[in-house]
Amino acid sequence: MNKKTIAIIIFLTSISLIGIVITQLFWVRNAIKMKERQFYHRVSIALKSTVEQLSDIRKDTSHNNFTSVCKPGCSMITENIVSVIKPASLDSIIKDEFANMNIQMKYEYGVFRKSDSNFIIGANNNFKNEIIKSEHFTSLSCLWKPDSYVLGVYFPDEKNFLIGEMFGWLFISALFLLIVIFSFSYIMLSLVKQKKISEMKTDFVNNMTHEFKTPIATISLASEMLLKPSINELPSKTEKYANIIYDENNRLKNQVEQVLQIAVLDKGNFKLKKTEVNLHEIIELAVDNFEMIVKQRCGKIIKHLDASMATFFADPIHITNIIHNMLDNANKYSPEPPEITVSTKNIEKGIILSIEDRGIGIIRENQKHIYKKFYRVHTGNIHDVKGFGLGLYYVKIIVEAHGGSIKLHSEIKKGTRFEIYFPFIKN
Ligand SMILES: Nc1ncnc2c1ncn2[C@@H]1O[C@H](COP(=O)(O)OP(=O)(O)OP(=O)(O)O)[C@@H](O)[C@H]1O
Ligand SMILES: [Mg+2]
Repeated sequence: MNKKTIAIIIFLTSISLIGIVITQLFWVRNAIKMKERQFYHRVSIALKSTVEQLSDIRKDTSHNNFTSVCKPGCSMITENIVSVIKPASLDSIIKDEFANMNIQMKYEYGVFRKSDSNFIIGANNNFKNEIIKSEHFTSLSCLWKPDSYVLGVYFPDEKNFLIGEMFGWLFISALFLLIVIFSFSYIMLSLVKQKKISEMKTDFVNNMTHEFKTPIATISLASEMLLKPSINELPSKTEKYANIIYDENNRLKNQVEQVLQIAVLDKGNFKLKKTEVNLHEIIELAVDNFEMIVKQRCGKIIKHLDASMATFFADPIHITNIIHNMLDNANKYSPEPPEITVSTKNIEKGIILSIEDRGIGIIRENQKHIYKKFYRVHTGNIHDVKGFGLGLYYVKIIVEAHGGSIKLHSEIKKGTRFEIYFPFIKN
């Protein structure tokens, strides 16, 4: 998949996800509103029914007491509203009606005059203001005509109740949304990561083919020369070509071994053969072997082996490889005649080996990637510097397998210093 397709997919999916989130929020809002309306409706039925019952009670009493004077629905001037709407009966009717409508929430009610908000029932209520402003009310004009009275109910927990009713659904939809967003981000990150790895692998294969091609071509040329009949008369040339074949073959062998070694590391089943080793001895040997390469480029290797305790338990072959890899990098990434400093020092529980060069340096942004498999810093003119991007990957794994760690200090165009810490542990 190319970069453009990935970008389009990420864009479209992100837009769709935002769309889903907005739609979901819209539906949730609608559902809350619907619940709210249902609740209002239930309260309104309960209030109407309360008034009807009060009205029925009133009719009965009027009938018994004032049959000749009072028509149903009207009021006697001698009457008082509290005698018409008895607080005790109102209380029990409201309670029954709310129970009938399955309204189990805490409520506060009051009866007040519409014109001046004067309470005749519930005057001591703390929620008087809320009752006056409440949207749950019903007129009592059919019970008491002289003034217009209102029965208002206020539910202190109304908002919480409605959200509480929807909480399950809200929670489930938020959870599903989070899962979708998380999975999407995870898949996208993996996709980008996979793409990077595949690019690095392609680089590696190209690199490897290139690296193998040169010795193969040289060997083929040298063997062609050896096959010429005239060569028998020139033994010095025979030796020269045989040496070339031998050296190039060795180079090929080392490269193949390097790649195979990484395959073993990847499987994770490599075993360290630890013995007591002297780091200074290994350094001396590795530097001796490497010095020739550096001197060819008019460079030098400076040693400051200051650690007083240089013996520790380690796998000597791997430690040699580590030093070789570090020297190889210091040399490869120094465009001028290399000046490499190898030093050791002791800290409380181990040894620090540092390898410093005055080469091209590594910019901060790339520093965190250099231990990754196949990673090579991309610079415009680095084609002449060969490598698989495996050296530091190998170094880090082996150092950590010894219980140690690796740190890097680098400044672009000034140089790089790698510090490797080996602890004094036996296992
Ligand atoms: N001393 C250094 N100075 C500047 N850049 C470095 C140095 N050491 C490593 N690097 C950068 O880190 C990258 C990874 O290094 P690493 O040793 O893993 O691979 P390599 O040298 O490219 O190939 P290999 O070691 O497998 O032959 C290098 O390609 C280089 O860009
Ligand atoms: Mg290297």
